[in-house]
Amino acid sequence: RRRVRTRHLLELKQRGEAWPMLTSYDMYTARIFDEAGIPVLLVGDSAANNVYGYDTTVPVTVEELIPLVRAVTRGARSALVVADLPFGSYEASPEQALATAVRFMKEGGAHAVKLEGGRPFARHVEALVNAGIPVMGHIGFTPQSEHTLGGYRVQGRGEQAEELAADARALQDAGAFAVVLEMVSSDSAKRVTAELTIPTVGIGAGPECDAQVLVWTDMAGMNTGRTARFVKRYADLGGTLARAAQEFADEVRGGAFPAPEHSFE
Ligand code: KIV
Ligand code: NA
Repeated sequence: RRRVRTRHLLELKQRGEAWPMLTSYDMYTARIFDEAGIPVLLVGDSAANNVYGYDTTVPVTVEELIPLVRAVTRGARSALVVADLPFGSYEASPEQALATAVRFMKEGGAHAVKLEGGRPFARHVEALVNAGIPVMGHIGFTPQSEHTLGGYRVQGRGEQAEELAADARALQDAGAFAVVLEMVSSDSAKRVTAELTIPTVGIGAGPECDAQVLVWTDMAGMNTGRTARFVKRYADLGGTLARAAQEFADEVRGGAFPAPEHSFE
């Protein structure tokens, strides 16, 4: 199989074919999702929560994320691997954004990067695209700004719809190849998706987006806690792993493991 390219995603939009994206933070999930036909893998800064156990995405660093990107690019044969730029690593200037994005490409082996923000970040996006780095935008609810946005709240309703559409257009004009819409009302997401020539990737943004993304630990039930309304659980990996660990523990304590077939004469 050949490597997925950003132009393939554009072709899917033109043909009206929806496509899936998942986060991945390690080699096994990268390999499994790649072989399952997921064309785009995101090494999200949601690794802050799902790998490192932070409460928000704010504290995670470039140094913590780059090794995860390297693991995912090793595991993914054909998926396009997108690396998230973490909070504090790109906002100050297009120059800072470029320096950080270059590290994710050179040290991590990423094929593209993603950053949060609309019109104020068009210059940052443009600098990266000019340097040959494909950029995915991310607007609507942007978790790195949760303290400004006042928590997890749906974006793009009412008067905000115009602002959101302007942000989306600015990212497209700056050269972004796709834009994530997070927790955006379905109406607003539908409008942005129709206006843009580049694909929209929804998470909690309704059924009209060109693509859908979920955090893998949410969709596979690794995260056994409460999840957002927009999450659908497709598996209970957390339960499955807990049962496997319990059974192993029981068999070790009871002497059933290891059996002769697991032992050498
Ligand atoms: O970090 C992440 O997982 C994301 C997706 C939810 C889009 O940014
Ligand atoms: Na993210």
